[in-house]
Amino acid sequence: MHSISQYQEIISTHFNGLKITKEPKNLYEPIQYILNLGGKRMRPVLTLMAAEIFDCDYSSALNAATAVEVFHNFSLIHDDIMDDAPLRRGNQTVHEKWNINTGILSGDAMLILAYKHFEKYEPIVFSALAKLFSKTALEVCEGQQYDVDFETREDVTIAEYLKMIEYKTAVLVGAAMKMGAIVAQTTDQNQNLIYDFGLNLGIAFQLQDDYLDVFGNPETFGKQIGGDIIENKKTYLYLKAKEFSNEKDKQQLLNLFSTQLTDDNSEKIKTVQTIFDRSGASNKTQEAIKMYTQKAFQRLKEMQISDEKKQILYAFGEKLMNRTV
Ligand code: IPE
Ligand code: IPE
Ligand code: MG
Ligand code: MG
Ligand code: MG
Repeated sequence: MHSISQYQEIISTHFNGLKITKEPKNLYEPIQYILNLGGKRMRPVLTLMAAEIFDCDYSSALNAATAVEVFHNFSLIHDDIMDDAPLRRGNQTVHEKWNINTGILSGDAMLILAYKHFEKYEPIVFSALAKLFSKTALEVCEGQQYDVDFETREDVTIAEYLKMIEYKTAVLVGAAMKMGAIVAQTTDQNQNLIYDFGLNLGIAFQLQDDYLDVFGNPETFGKQIGGDIIENKKTYLYLKAKEFSNEKDKQQLLNLFSTQLTDDNSEKIKTVQTIFDRSGASNKTQEAIKMYTQKAFQRLKEMQISDEKKQILYAFGEKLMNRTV
């Protein structure tokens, strides 16, 4: 096994070495651009880690890891169009720097490029990877559609929210890990345990993303603070605030989340931040993040792997829980 920072280094070197730009430039340059903006590269790191957890050299899992990260970046380009987001990783989003049509087509091309990375695997592994990938990618689309549908609904439940984030985010984290396990050709039981570990970590991860969207440091977060509030996203914070606010705050929240975009959203954002804090929703979100991380750790306990390996996965989960970007 390597350390987390060693896996990060391996992935970073690999992506920095990728030469994607060719003709037509307007198709490939945005792809190179988004991939070079970096990001945490958590998913490909998890793929490599999972391969080595199950006694396979990380290098065999590099193509699967690349596929997952390229898919993730594709989903970000389209997500930023759907969320009308100006900033990604501290830089202009693809559709802002180019235009929406470019974002759509470069994104489409990335989805195909992601799949192509599986071609390098022998038939049995290829088939398992492609099957998992197709299932996961479709679930991500379903999650994204629920996310958009919820913007204009007032009766979203916590259960619906949890399902939505499981689909839009957590299944890809689970799949990233399972792919490493598939490449390692470990038992079905191990594959499923590592998937569940990733899935629960992914739910905690999206809860944290929603929290940082509201309370992150604008200097370092890399995305527009308050973007979810502007878009009337029905997050855990919002749902808990609605549940636990006093009547006056609740009415104000409902009013604010039924308004359309205006030029200046700073007042709306400030008011909503205050209500999220005052209602206890911020604390409840932090508790939920811890709870889903613990759930992931529970899966880890059931795994038949050495304590040294478990320790690396624990450390990864702890690190995610305390992240600020
Ligand atoms: C952003 O994912 C999209 C979500 C699922 C919340 P990351 O936070 O992993 O983004 P990068 O790749 O590190 O920029
Ligand atoms: C993203 O959810 C999920 C996918 C990209 C599939 P968000 O919309 O919360 O992600 P960010 O905050 O823009 O990164
Ligand atoms: Mg978004
Ligand atoms: Mg979104
Ligand atoms: Mg977000």
